[in-house]
This record gives sequence, structure tokens and C-alpha cells, in this order.
Amino acid sequence: MQTETASVIEQRSLGGDYRVLEFASSKVAPRVKPGQFIHLRVDERNELVLRRPFSVFKTGKKSLAILYKIVGRGTQILARLRPGDRAGIMGPLGNGFPLPASQTFPLLAAGGYGAAALYLLAQQARKKGIIFIGGATADDILCADDFKKIGWKVKIATEDGAAGQKGLATDILTEYLSEKSKMRQMALYACGPMGMLKAVAEIAVKNGQKAWLSLDRRMGCGVGACLGCVQKVKDGKSWKWARVCRDGPVFECRQIVWENGKWEKEK
Ligand SMILES: Cc1cc2nc3c(=O)[nH]c(=O)nc-3n(C[C@H](O)[C@H](O)[C@H](O)COP(=O)(O)OP(=O)(O)OC[C@H]3O[C@@H](n4cnc5c(N)ncnc54)[C@H](O)[C@@H]3O)c2cc1C
Ligand code: FES
Repeated sequence: MQTETASVIEQRSLGGDYRVLEFASSKVAPRVKPGQFIHLRVDERNELVLRRPFSVFKTGKKSLAILYKIVGRGTQILARLRPGDRAGIMGPLGNGFPLPASQTFPLLAAGGYGAAALYLLAQQARKKGIIFIGGATADDILCADDFKKIGWKVKIATEDGAAGQKGLATDILTEYLSEKSKMRQMALYACGPMGMLKAVAEIAVKNGQKAWLSLDRRMGCGVGACLGCVQKVKDGKSWKWARVCRDGPVFECRQIVWENGKWEKEK
């Protein structure tokens, strides 16, 4: 893990509340693995004490980009950054996704900005697969062109039917698997809201596949010290707390103790 003060190279809007922010980063960027995140000090004047976690979307030799949604005070401050402004980066953090084995066909499921966490995985996977991208409406369908440019197939679902098929990303994933499941060995990867991750877990278990899920939690320290981000995971016949920042954010779906209704209330 490294820390550095990074200058903004570019900030651009993707429409709606979504932005891409690119930083010059010589220490953190070269070390990032797919699915890892950075903990960003969004406010160098220290009005906001806690850092904010963001998946690394893209990396260059000396740069990295995040794709973020403006939801509160920290991300509003991020949206004001301009080229040359500086921010404190800590990272890369977390375990990241295991790359699919060479013969395995990768299937990705993304909800909203979850697509950003999956892009480096798609770039580094030996086989090109399919990404199922879901969102409430067309504005929430992110990165489709980025995945197409690197040769991946993209399937889209929106809840209001404004883009792609009407419904959820997991609906089109289920449809796909009902036709293709017996044809090849697959690995599922997902990042998005907890309800979606739970649905992907159910699909994986039903189809006898593994699913690697990236969990999103409010974080304090980001390095395993404050226990602000804990998640119940299986431990033999019992359970224990795992720290999403340090033991995750990626867990195989069978590790997670799912608690009915809890996630819907949290979101
Ligand atoms: C490992 C990890 C990777 C992430 N990657 C990305 C990413 O690539 N792009 C992105 O836009 N966001 C990502 N997030 C979520 C991001 O950290 C939060 O959106 C951000 O911290 C909000 O900060 P804020 O100050 O704007 O909002 P706050 O003022 O802290 O909160 C505003 C609202 O957003 C909700 N909120 C805040 N944090 C979260 C969260 N972690 N999950 C769900 N709701 C939250 C709050 O409940 C509140 O309603 C990631 C989170 C984790 C843990
Ligand atoms: S954020 Fe502090 S332990 Fe995970």
C-alpha cells in the first residue's frame, strides 16, 4: 500500500450524476490489480476527515482513473476538482478479483458504477466474455463502449426499458445461462447493489458456478483497523466478521452470510 498526493489530469462528465476523474499517479497506479480500490482524501482542506473508497476504473503507467457517482458531500467536492488540483490517494487496497482460469469463460454483471470495478478484470482476462450491465434508466448504463472497444460482448437491461431489455441485469444473465449453461465452464463476477449481488449468488449456486462479488460498504480507515466495514462470513459451521476493506472487497458468494431484508433497509 502506498500514499501519494496526486494531481488531477482530467475530470469529465458521463451524463447524469456520473463523472470520470483521472489522476497522475506514479506510486499507486502501477500496483493496481483488478477489483482493488483507492481511499481518496477528497478534501485537502480537511473539512471532511474521512477518506472515501473508489474502485480503480482504468490505469496507465503513471495515471489512474475512477468513475464515480455524485451522492453526497465528498463526491460533490470531487466534482469540483479541476486539472492541476491535488488529492491524497492511499492504495491499492483490498484483495481484488482472481483472474479467470485460461479455459474459463467470464461473465460479468454490473449495476451502475459497478461497471468501473470490472473493467480492469475484463482487460486482463485471457478470454473475452460477456458483461451484463443494468441500471434504473439509460443514464445508469456505464462503460458499455469501453467494454466493446476491448472486444467484450455487452448486454444491457434497464428497469424502465429506456435502453436494452426492460428488467434487471440478473434477468438477462439468467436468460443467457438458461440457453448456454451446459456448454462451457464459466466464472461469474459482479459489482453492484447488494440485492443484485445476492441474485447473482443464487444464480451461481443454482448453476454450480463460482461467483466473485465485490461488496460496497461505508468505510472509515480502509485498512482494517476501525471495523467500520464488517460483513458476516461463514466460518466452518459458524460465522465470523470479515473486514470488507482488508479481507475483501471481493468474496466468493458462498462465503457470505446473507441476511434477508437487511440490505434493502441499508440502501
Ligand atoms: C470498495 C468500494 C468501492 C467503491 N467504488 C465506487 C466507485 O467506483 N464509484 C462510486 O461512485 N462509488 C464507489 N463506492 C461508493 C463510494 O465510496 C461512496 O459513494 C462515497 O463514499 C460517497 O461519499 P459522499 O461523501 O459523496 O457521500 P456521503 O455524504 O458519505 O453519503 C451520501 C449518501 O450516499 C450513501 N453512501 C455513501 N457511501 C456509500 C456506500 N459505500 N455504499 C452505498 N451508499 C453509500 C449514504 O448512505 C448517503 O445516503 C465504493 C465503495 C466501496 C466500499
Ligand atoms: S474501513 Fe476500517 S476496518 Fe474496514
